[in-house]
Amino acid sequence: MKEIKLFIFDLDGVITSTDRQHFLAWSQLVEKLNLAMNEEINQSLKGISRKESFLKILKYNDKENLYSDEKISELIDLKNIYYKKLIESFDKSNVFPGVVELFEKLKDKGIKIAIASASQNAPRLLERMDLMNYIDYVVNPSEVANGKPHPDIFLRAANELNIKPQDCVGLEDAFAGIEAINSAGMISVGIGNESELPEADYIYNSVEEIDLKDLFNKIKSAFPILL
Ligand code: BG6
Ligand code: MG
Repeated sequence: MKEIKLFIFDLDGVITSTDRQHFLAWSQLVEKLNLAMNEEINQSLKGISRKESFLKILKYNDKENLYSDEKISELIDLKNIYYKKLIESFDKSNVFPGVVELFEKLKDKGIKIAIASASQNAPRLLERMDLMNYIDYVVNPSEVANGKPHPDIFLRAANELNIKPQDCVGLEDAFAGIEAINSAGMISVGIGNESELPEADYIYNSVEEIDLKDLFNKIKSAFPILL
């Protein structure tokens, strides 16, 4: 029987919004390199690692073989310098409405909380937003072999906390993230709209809209669940 023991949250787009900051940082780099990118490309970078993002930008520019691996590392480090400057001002006010309330309800129920973000800046952002004390485990994305849409990052969170994947709920705003949760054998909750996240088991417009009781009832009618 299923017993929900762990909620695993993506960060960017679920707990806070960093889209604009990533876009601005990439734009700064792209401009410096005389390359092009647009908002549509930026959307396709959701949930994708820094290096993979840059490779996608290069592909969009038909410049896949322009740089050596070493140069790529240097350039993505530079993007991160730009990005870190842009998130310097982050604080509690950047946390999406409803997140702290949901964390508190989960804690009251004895349900653990983990973060599975592709961002290496996740701990920095969580600290700035004063959320670290709610979180049982933050996966370091550089320690998992395959990024989203592979399930590795979600499985790592469950494994570290000794919880079976089927007892986990994963929350994601990106298509690749929902695929990762589904292939980890977890329950997937999409944050966004159904047309963008058609594979999510359940969907809400925002974390604020999640009514835990309603979600658990929905899960209960789909699977035998111990509440
Ligand atoms: C994801 C974002 O959470 O993290 C991506 O959705 C981003 O847009 C990725 O590229 C990596 O982030 P960072 O902070 O390690 O460059
Ligand atoms: Mg995201």
